Amino acid sequence: MATRLAVVVLISGRGSNLQAIIDAAQQGLPVDIRAVISNVAGTAGLERAQGAGIHTEVLEHAGYPDREAYDQALQRLIDGFQPGLVVLAGFMRILTPAFVARYHARMVNIHPSLLPAFPGLNTHQRALEAGVREHGASVHFVTEEVDGGPVIIQARVPVLPDDTPEVLAARVLEQEHSIFPQAIQWFAEDRLSLQGNAVLLDGKPVTGLIRISHQGGGRRQGHNPR
Ligand code: GRF
Repeated sequence: MATRLAVVVLISGRGSNLQAIIDAAQQGLPVDIRAVISNVAGTAGLERAQGAGIHTEVLEHAGYPDREAYDQALQRLIDGFQPGLVVLAGFMRILTPAFVARYHARMVNIHPSLLPAFPGLNTHQRALEAGVREHGASVHFVTEEVDGGPVIIQARVPVLPDDTPEVLAARVLEQEHSIFPQAIQWFAEDRLSLQGNAVLLDGKPVTGLIRISHQGGGRRQGHNPR
């Protein structure tokens, strides 16, 4: 069997995306989760990791004079595990340029919107306020622009008339748990790369692979080469 990709996962909270990755790894996703690092102590995500026998670390920002100092410490911690991929799974911190550069083309994030729509926080509330008919989630390579890096894969869900932010979030989250392991699998299989601003899958540029889920209906998966 080919060697598994060494991965470090960064979290800040609940860790449901982490759980999806753990579950996928137990079902054959070729990754070795070397560590889960949280910037917040006592999170549910840490418990999930410990429950799966994964090494955990907590690195809180208290005690660091500034963002640069924290990110340097975080980088030292991450590099000790020698990951081939750094996975941001609900890691709620702005990253410094030096940190982003360190993991260029080998750090991915999941964001609960159809980027470039709704970067930042409170995406479900904002989607409802904007009256959009579709919403979703995106996995992207991390660049200096917050939630602005090249998109790897997106999942789209309908916005329904009675949706609350919570109901919509749950519909999106279900799709997050599908597309995040998928993107990681491509990377682990050496099929996915970032060349300049282009995401390449099997050597071909992609504009985002969109899984459309219809309420109560079927699914289709499309591949949109440029
Ligand atoms: C997810 O909605 C993710 O898209 C966003 O933060 C949330 C994390 O949820 N970046 P969880 O901790 O994975 O459950």
